[in-house]
Amino acid sequence: MTEVQHKGRVAIVGTGLVGSGWAIVFARAGYPVALYDAVPGAAGRALALIGERLIDLQKAGLTGDPAPIQARIMVASSLTEALANAIYVQESVFERVDVKTELMREIDAVVGKDTLIGSSSSGIGASHFTEHVACRARCLVAHPVNPPYLAPIVELVPAPWTAPETVQAVRRLMEDVGQSPVEMTREAEGFILNRLQGVLLMEAWRLVEQGLATAEDIDKTVSQGLGLRWAFMGPFETIDLNAPGGIADYATRLGGLYQRIAASTSEHRVWDAELIAKVEAQRREHLAAADLPSRGAWRDRRLMALARHVQQQDAADLRADE
Ligand SMILES: NC(=O)c1ccc[n+]([C@@H]2O[C@H](COP(=O)([O-])OP(=O)(O)OC[C@H]3O[C@@H](n4cnc5c(N)ncnc54)[C@H](O)[C@@H]3O)[C@@H](O)[C@H]2O)c1
Repeated sequence: MTEVQHKGRVAIVGTGLVGSGWAIVFARAGYPVALYDAVPGAAGRALALIGERLIDLQKAGLTGDPAPIQARIMVASSLTEALANAIYVQESVFERVDVKTELMREIDAVVGKDTLIGSSSSGIGASHFTEHVACRARCLVAHPVNPPYLAPIVELVPAPWTAPETVQAVRRLMEDVGQSPVEMTREAEGFILNRLQGVLLMEAWRLVEQGLATAEDIDKTVSQGLGLRWAFMGPFETIDLNAPGGIADYATRLGGLYQRIAASTSEHRVWDAELIAKVEAQRREHLAAADLPSRGAWRDRRLMALARHVQQQDAADLRADE
C-alpha cells in the first residue's frame, strides 16, 4: 500500500516560502506537481516566483532549461483537485497545530487510499495533528531546510502510528528527487536540526547577554570557522579528524573542557525582550531592516555557488574512487 508510484503527481499544499521551494525539488526531478493554497491567487503567485528561481538556478549551472520544469507544475483550484491521483502530499502550511489539524481533516476526506503525506513542520511532531485522521499511518513529518532545492537535508520523523513502510517509501521518494533524508526513531520537539541549532543559538545569546562577545564576532566565528567544515562534515567527523587518535582520543584530550563549559551553563536561559533588543540593535548596525530581502537573495546566490561547488567536488571524488 505504501510504495510510491514512480513519477506520479506530488501535491504541494501551502505555497509560501517552503511549499514553492518543494515544488522546484519535485518538478526538477521529473514529477508532475500540483500547487494548492487556501488564499486565492497565492499558488499562481508562487508559480511566477518559481519561474524566477528556476532562471537563477539555471544561471548558477544547477538546472537545465527552466521551461519544461515549470511546465510540470500546475495550479489547482481546490484541495480535491490538487490531491487527485497524487502519490504524495507535501503539507507546507503555517506552523500552527490548529491549522495543520484542520487541514489534515480536509485532506483525510479526499486523499487517495495509497497517498502518503509528509508535513514540512519545523518542530511540531505529526502526532500533534494527525491522531484524528483515518490516513494517519501514512502521515509523517518530512522537514526540509529552506530553500529545499539548495539544501538537500530532509528530516523524516514518524508519529507513533506512522507505518514503518511509510517512512521507507518517503525515504525512497526523497532520494529519488535528490534530497538527503535522515530519520528520527521517534518524535522529539525540534527534531535533529533545530535541536542542534537551538544549542548553538542558546550559547550565542548567552555570550551576548554576558557581554563576552558581540553578535558580529559570534557570526564571524561560525562563518569563518566552524561553518567552513560544516558544509561537508558534521560535528562527530570534525572531532574524529581533530585528534591524532580519532574521536576517542579527542574525547580524552578535550572532554574535560566541554564538561566544564556544560556544567557552567546548565541553567535555562530566557530570550528576554532586553536581550533581543540588544542583539537586534547590533544586527541593524550592520544590516538595515530594509536590506533584509536583498541580503536574503545574496545568501541564496552564495548557496547556489556552494551547491555547485559541492556537486563538482562529489563528482571528482566519485571519479577518483573509480
Ligand atoms: N521558513 C522556513 O525557513 C522553514 C523551513 C523549514 C520548514 N518550514 C515549515 O514549513 C511550513 C510552511 O512555512 P513557510 O515558511 O513556507 O510559511 P509561509 O507563511 O511562507 O507559507 C504558508 C502558506 O500556507 C498557506 N496556508 C495556510 N493555511 C492553509 C490551508 N489550510 N490550506 C492551504 N494553504 C494554507 C498560506 O496561505 C501560505 O501561503 C511551516 O510548517 C514551517 O514551520 C519553514
